Amino acid sequence: SFPKHVRLVEVGPRDGLQNESQPITTATKLELIERLAAAGHRYIEAASFVSPKWVPQMADHREVVQALMQGGQARPGVTYSALTPNLKGLEAALECGIQEVAVFGAASESFSQKNINCSIAESLERFTPVVERALAEGVRVRGYVSCVLGCPYEGDIDPGQVASVSRALYAMGCYEVSLGDTIGTGTPLKAKRMLETVARDIPIDKLAAHFHDTYGQALANLYAVLEEGISVIDSSVAGLGGCPYAKGAAGNVASEDVVYLLNGLGIDSGVDLDKLAATGDWITQTIGRPNRSKAGVALTSR
Ligand code: HMG
Ligand code: MG
Repeated sequence: SFPKHVRLVEVGPRDGLQNESQPITTATKLELIERLAAAGHRYIEAASFVSPKWVPQMADHREVVQALMQGGQARPGVTYSALTPNLKGLEAALECGIQEVAVFGAASESFSQKNINCSIAESLERFTPVVERALAEGVRVRGYVSCVLGCPYEGDIDPGQVASVSRALYAMGCYEVSLGDTIGTGTPLKAKRMLETVARDIPIDKLAAHFHDTYGQALANLYAVLEEGISVIDSSVAGLGGCPYAKGAAGNVASEDVVYLLNGLGIDSGVDLDKLAATGDWITQTIGRPNRSKAGVALTSR
C-alpha cells in the first residue's frame, strides 16, 4: 500500500547542474537552492565536494555551502547536504559547516572505475573512514548505489550485487541508501524485483528511489516502488541533469512531475507545486535549458 507521506530529496542543484558545461554562477545556484526551499523542499542536495578536474561545475562547492551554513542563507528546518567521495572532500565539507553528507558507490565495477576511479571494494574501504569521521562530528551520512537497474558499460546488473553494496553502506552507518537508476533503463517490474531483493536485508523505510528519466520510465518505476512501500524519492527540478560518467544519461525524474503524481495519489510531500513549477521555469530560462518537466511546462506555459 502507498505511504501517506513521501520525503522528497531535491537533487537539482547537484545532480541537475553537475553536467552543465557552461558556467553557472554561485549566486544562481544559491538562488535556486533558496527558491526550492521556499517551495517547500526540506532536503536539498546543494553541492559536491569532488575533484574540480572531474566535475568542473561543482568547483564552487565551498562557496555554496559556506554561504548556506556560515553566511546565514540556510533556512531553519531544511537539511542541506553534499556529496563527499573521500576524506579530503569530507574535511572540506566539515570546514564549511555541512550538516549532512553522502557517499556514492556503484553496483557495477566498470561504473565505479569510471566515476570514482576505484573498484567497488576499494570504494567501500574508502567510505568507511568517511562515515566514521562524519558520524563522530554528528553529521549524518546518506549512501548512494549507482547502476541499480543497468550500467552504461556492463548492461544488466544482478539485483544481488545491488543488495550487497547497499548492505555494506547500511552496515557502515549510512542512515539511508538511495538506489540510483543512473541511466534510466529500468522498467517497473524490474524496479520492483530489484527493490524486493534489497529490502530483504534493509528496512524499506531506509531506502530511497533515485531514478533518472532517460527512457521516460521514471514515473512508472516510482509508482511501482511506491506500491512496495518506498517513501523517499530523489528528484530534480525541471528534470535537470545527467551524469558525466554515464554517456547519454538524461536528468533525474522531474520534481514537479513527482509532486503532481503524489498529489493525485493523495500522498503529502509538503511541496507547493505552483511555486516549484515557477522555480523550474526560472532556472531553465536562466541557464538556457529546456524544461523537462511535463507538469512544469503545463503549469507555466504562457
Ligand atoms: P582520483 O584521481 O582517484 O583521486 O579521484 P586522488 O586522490 O588520486 O586525487 C587526484 C586529484 O584530485 C588530486 O589533485 C586531489 O587533491 C584531488 P592534484 O594533486 O592532482 O591537483 N582530489 C580532490 N579535490 C577536491 N575534492 C576532493 C578530492 N579528492 C581528490 N574530494 C575522486 C577520485 C573520487 C576524487 C574523483 O574520481 C572524483 O572527484 N570523482 C567525482 C565523480 C562525480 O562527482 N560523479 C558524479 C556524482 S555521482 C552521480 O551522479 C550518481 C548519483 O547521482 C546516483 C545515480 O544517479 O546513480 C549519486
Ligand atoms: Mg543521479
